[in-house]
Amino acid sequence: MKELQYLNKYLYTYRKKLLIGIFITIVARIFSLFTPRLVGNSMTAIERYLQQTAGDPKVLQDALLLNIGLIVAASLVSGFFTFLMRQTIINVSRYIEYDLKNEIYQHYQVLCSTFYKKNRTGDLMSRISEDVSKVRMYFGPALMYSINTVALFIIVISYMVSVAPSLTLYTLLPLPVLSVTIYKLSRAINIRSTAVQETLAKLSAFAQETFSGIGVIKSYNLQPTIENQFSFLAIESKNQNVALAKVQAWFFPLMILLIGFSNLLVIYVGGKQYIAGEIEIGVLAEFIIYVTMLTWPVATVGWVTSIVQQAEASQKRINAFLKEEPTIKDGFSSKKIKVAAVVFEEVSFVYPDTGIRALDNVSFKLNSGETLGIIGKTGAGKSTLLDLIARLYDPTEGKVIIDEQNASAYSLKELRNAVGYVPQNPFLFSESIEDNIRFGKEDATLEEVKQAAQQAAVHDNIQNFKEKYATLLGERGVTLSGGQIQRISIARALIKNPAMLLFDDCLSAVDADTEEKILHHLNQISEDKTTCIVSHRVSSVQHADKIIVLEEGKIIQQGTHLELLKQPGHYQDLAQKQSD
Ligand SMILES: Nc1ncnc2c1ncn2[C@@H]1O[C@H](COP(=O)(O)OP(=O)(O)O)[C@@H](O)[C@H]1O
Ligand SMILES: [Mg+2]
Repeated sequence: MKELQYLNKYLYTYRKKLLIGIFITIVARIFSLFTPRLVGNSMTAIERYLQQTAGDPKVLQDALLLNIGLIVAASLVSGFFTFLMRQTIINVSRYIEYDLKNEIYQHYQVLCSTFYKKNRTGDLMSRISEDVSKVRMYFGPALMYSINTVALFIIVISYMVSVAPSLTLYTLLPLPVLSVTIYKLSRAINIRSTAVQETLAKLSAFAQETFSGIGVIKSYNLQPTIENQFSFLAIESKNQNVALAKVQAWFFPLMILLIGFSNLLVIYVGGKQYIAGEIEIGVLAEFIIYVTMLTWPVATVGWVTSIVQQAEASQKRINAFLKEEPTIKDGFSSKKIKVAAVVFEEVSFVYPDTGIRALDNVSFKLNSGETLGIIGKTGAGKSTLLDLIARLYDPTEGKVIIDEQNASAYSLKELRNAVGYVPQNPFLFSESIEDNIRFGKEDATLEEVKQAAQQAAVHDNIQNFKEKYATLLGERGVTLSGGQIQRISIARALIKNPAMLLFDDCLSAVDADTEEKILHHLNQISEDKTTCIVSHRVSSVQHADKIIVLEEGKIIQQGTHLELLKQPGHYQDLAQKQSD
């Protein structure tokens, strides 16, 4: 139960509702006690009538009618309170589920890219959906049935003992056996249903991937292979479901068998006591009903135990995530970034997971409003350099200084506000084009959105869509070309009007004319902005104030376009190749 202790704070938050729930449960159980009692009374009344030689049937009839009325009333009250019990306790579990989901989601937002690299998306999803719902079962049904069982036991058993102590003992004798059996069975059911779920997850992941890659599958005639793989998974899934059904099928027969056995004991022992004149016939009837009343709660003890075990395992996984600390810590300086002069002082960066030295002793100085061009082959460290400016990572050695202060000293909010980053693989959300651009500035007017799109040279494309700026993107919307995605992402960065613009190879899928248009606009906009343009095209960086050439994380050349053209080396070669 160690892991579940983390959740006690939620129990504390909802303590009032829970106390009310407990109170309601007790009332419901007290009233449920009336029915057996009244049935017993009726039996005794009938027996007495039969024993009298001149009994008045009218008197018996009235007594029975009264009892029936009372049974109906008690059942209604008990039923109503049982309804209220569910309403309070199950609702609390839903509130806690909601809170816990939010807590995990908020924590996800704080964690860094390293965390997201380390963990698979599927795992992140299952923490917040499946694991949380398992934990909810602990607060909902498990807690409710525990309270219910405890209340029922205390109330019913103390009453039973007061009526017929030795008969009570015999009645209760088979219950522990029942409890252990149900526990074992629930465990088996849980293990098998987990297996069923895992296979199902595999099956749907497989199906999803094949739907996404349907083009490749068809063009390579892979349908039969894929079908085979699918049916293999489907057979596995079927087998596991059948195995689950087998254990599930034991549940009710076993319960009925054990109830039957308890009834037998009550009738046998109770019958002997009745013959000996120790108890009335009504007590016997009453106890038979108690057996049934107690059986289900006892069965739930086994069930609840297995729910708690599962919740514990789920909460353990959740806790492991909640304990993850973001590696990029917020800075405490209240200083604002104004002119955005960027200095790299002997910066090296090693990716912690792979040990790859992506940047090696990189130093440069970029004054406010200047543009830096970064050229280099794939894997040279260009993207990593931009990530360090945006503080997606912190340097392993050396310093990144912005406006004469270490980048890590700024609050993350301030730093990220000052940066307009267009990543190498830009991501557009399944929303309208307009809203996607507005991600850069939440309260932007449509006019501003259009202006940014014009600057990114994508306005004309958007105008050609039927729904124009309201065109939906993603699964249910249009599919954009690589160049269009890049330009919409550029518009998103421009509308933000940040002090620094970081463009990671974001003109790679754009034709030469459009590239020139965008660069021309950029030139005007970025006069007062510090800009970094990563590219492997000389044309994208030729107007930059400074150009650095990276190779295996090191700066191998730097200067202006004209200077570098004169130097023999990578840049000159590249310029020559690209001018052909
Ligand atoms: N998230 C990452 N984890 C581990 N290694 C990485 C990661 N991203 C990049 N690398 C490695 O760091 C080096 C530089 O990568 P990157 O900065 O993306 O280069 P470029 O943008 O110039 O193509 C490469 O060797 C790459 O394999
Ligand atoms: Mg890159």
